[in-house]
Amino acid sequence: MALLTQAPRGTQDILPSQSFKWQHIEKTALDVAKRFGFSEIRVPTFEHTELFLRSVGDTTDVVQKEMYTFLDKGERSITLRPEGTAGVARAVVQNGLLGDALPLKVCYLANCFRYEKPQAGRLREFHQFGIEMFGAEKPSADAEVISLAHTFLTELGIKNLSLEINSIGCPECRPKYHKALREYFEKHKDKLCKTCLERLEKNPLRILDCKNDECAKLCADAPKGIEHLCDDCHNHFEGVKSLLSAINIPFIVNPFIVRGLDYYTKTVFEFVSTEIGAKATVCGGGRYDGLIGEIGGKDTCGIGFAVGLERLLLVLESAGVEIPQSSKADIYIANIGEKAGEVAFYLAQNLRANGKNAICDVMGRSLNAQMKYANKIGAKFSAVIGDDEVATRTLALKDMQSGETVKISFDEIIDNI
Ligand code: HAM
Repeated sequence: MALLTQAPRGTQDILPSQSFKWQHIEKTALDVAKRFGFSEIRVPTFEHTELFLRSVGDTTDVVQKEMYTFLDKGERSITLRPEGTAGVARAVVQNGLLGDALPLKVCYLANCFRYEKPQAGRLREFHQFGIEMFGAEKPSADAEVISLAHTFLTELGIKNLSLEINSIGCPECRPKYHKALREYFEKHKDKLCKTCLERLEKNPLRILDCKNDECAKLCADAPKGIEHLCDDCHNHFEGVKSLLSAINIPFIVNPFIVRGLDYYTKTVFEFVSTEIGAKATVCGGGRYDGLIGEIGGKDTCGIGFAVGLERLLLVLESAGVEIPQSSKADIYIANIGEKAGEVAFYLAQNLRANGKNAICDVMGRSLNAQMKYANKIGAKFSAVIGDDEVATRTLALKDMQSGETVKISFDEIIDNI
């Protein structure tokens, strides 16, 4: 019979043969975050839709085209999170965390959902490792957050990503920049796509993020945000750059980074790779000093980033980084006969209780089939229990790599594997 249905387009099963890579990445992420003082936060997979409309912004592609939004049985509009920051911001306000010691530093591993056209490194359900720092407004907070991303990527063995940074200003200087952008694009209105014509009215900055070829060509000559920064934003950006240089994190200033989400202010950054497609952003982030106020909290600044884990895995693969895979079993204990089967079962159980990874037969298979299985799962040691072994409480412990065998008592197994 044919399979009833395939996994939905743009989703991915993470199989046992691959999950060790995810565990390695996730462990490294949480380890690095901890060293920088970040604690894990877990928030719901879905939120009320208005949270994303308000924070991510209703002129963004994410909100206009990509959200999984539906009415629940209580007629409430619900959206599967397209990203992590908005839900985390809601949670820290709702739970009063911004009244405690600041800066508040949180990190998360989260599945996210965007209705995009699937391709390599672009899925409809994908996973992010993200961090958010609330309440720190100095350039050193920006540099620390970027440094955390850099440390994480470096410790995973990735060296070929380039860090691009920009500043997109604040509510003080942005209107002037918007004005300059509007004047520029007005002159080329006939070449803009339909969506960008709307953006021209509502939020001209979003035109810089358009994927349409004609619009992208126009953007190359558009006025640059960094040329319109107010003194505060300019000095902040200079501060971030000089701190990054001081800690030897190479970067380039790319005045065309605007990011696809509306909540950003001042510093924005991306770690990009040219090895997995045209130019893929593996990590994106920035400052969002207005977000907490926007969703109803007491004005508190924030900054963070998120790394896309599927893209990260592609980069690791293309860079040939080997992720260590631990053996599935310290020992496989095979048996011949019913009584021996019981003893093998008991021995395995005892070894597990002592922290070892021990496997025995639970299929009633022949010795030959059991040993094939032991090989397949890459057991480090094996032993066969038969009547003699049961009687003498000893066994021949075989090193599966070298083939060497040592005779030991049952009590000595634990010290030999
Ligand atoms: P973002 O740039 O929209 O930022 O997403 C962050 C990362 O998620 C991207 O760089 C990419 O690696 C991955 N990603 C995004 N969409 C997809 C997709 N459809 N398939 C696979 N991977 C994807 C944010 O989400 C912000 N919340 C980051 C942030 C945190 N800014 C401040 N704090």
